[in-house]
Amino acid sequence: MDTFHAAYCMRYPALAATTAPGWRTGDGSATIDRVAAVLGIETSCDETAAAVVIDGVDVRSSVVASQVELHRKYGGVVPEIASRAHIERLDSVIRQALEEAGHGRDDIDAVAVTRKPGLVGSLVIGVTAAKTLAWAWSKPLVYVDHVLAHACSAAIEVHPPPWPAVALIVSGGHSSLYLVRDFDSIERLGCTTDDAAGEAFDKVATILNLPYPGGPQIERVARGGNPQAVGFPRTMLGPDSLDFSFSGIKTAVLYHVHGSGRTSGGLDRLSAQDIADIAASFQAAVVDVLVRKTLRAVDRAGVDTVVLGGGVAANHALREGLAAACADRRLRFHAAPMSYCMDNAAMVAALGYHQYTRGDRGDLDADAQASQ
Ligand code: KG4
Ligand code: ZN
Repeated sequence: MDTFHAAYCMRYPALAATTAPGWRTGDGSATIDRVAAVLGIETSCDETAAAVVIDGVDVRSSVVASQVELHRKYGGVVPEIASRAHIERLDSVIRQALEEAGHGRDDIDAVAVTRKPGLVGSLVIGVTAAKTLAWAWSKPLVYVDHVLAHACSAAIEVHPPPWPAVALIVSGGHSSLYLVRDFDSIERLGCTTDDAAGEAFDKVATILNLPYPGGPQIERVARGGNPQAVGFPRTMLGPDSLDFSFSGIKTAVLYHVHGSGRTSGGLDRLSAQDIADIAASFQAAVVDVLVRKTLRAVDRAGVDTVVLGGGVAANHALREGLAAACADRRLRFHAAPMSYCMDNAAMVAALGYHQYTRGDRGDLDADAQASQ
């Protein structure tokens, strides 16, 4: 830990000069307690979350209030309901995060919040809360990109950070490959041209009449199925592409269930085993594409490390498939810890810390942004 902190002080010399006793500074001339405690706030979709993270790696608290129960009967996230639930819950979620961390306002060095991308009516709740706290507490404000926070989530509690790496980020809203050279140098290599991977999981779950949210249900049902039962298409989009397309496989599942060109009437004819086989074959096809494209990105970027993040990173077939492929190629592999795969504020505070230490400050006039 000392070495880690010393490295950070060397990278950000201003910190060594301004912090109090505890850790050794880069040149060994002084010691400091900690570099910075960041309060993170996340409300981009349907999780209301707050966290306190020290130095970008040490998670002191991470509170997530899931809205799954509110949206389940609609089979997906209803933006107005999400927004209202954020308003009702955010205050107590922030209080709980501070309490669990044992931090009062004086212990917080900066407030970081997801400003984009996401549902704008949800984002605006977190952004308004963060602006208010930063202003009332006279703390610096940092705006974080949600997808880049997922990209850095595999670095939480990892010392030293695993960069440079190719990051595969797969969630309900995004499927992207990034080259992360460092926290302040992240380049997008590819993204989805239509549905995100998680969206495909959710839509296929709906086709199979499995409850919301679909990803974990597909994984559960797939455990009893044969991944080779149905040869669903693997859309690679050409030999050089690092982009993804998952709408074709979703349609292939739809027609497999109901018959070619049909969108209803077929589900009743399928046995529980048929459904398990379809779920397993769909999951295998998606994992296959994600793994092959990630290895393609590694070849392109010339790095020896892969990291995995986003809600779909909670899928064990993907974690294990990518881990095995990396082991075959002698690549290092870091998956985000399970608790930081789905939306959370620890990843926001962690990336926010790195932005804060390099002087990145959010403007109180800035608005939430739906797109990246
Ligand atoms: O990162 P996240 O919480 O929210 C977004 O930023 O979109 O990801 C949610 C997505 C949903 O589509 C959900 O079905 C999917 O992650 N997901 C999974 C699993 N757990 C969550 N997909 C496949 N297998 C899982 N075990
Ligand atoms: Zn997310």
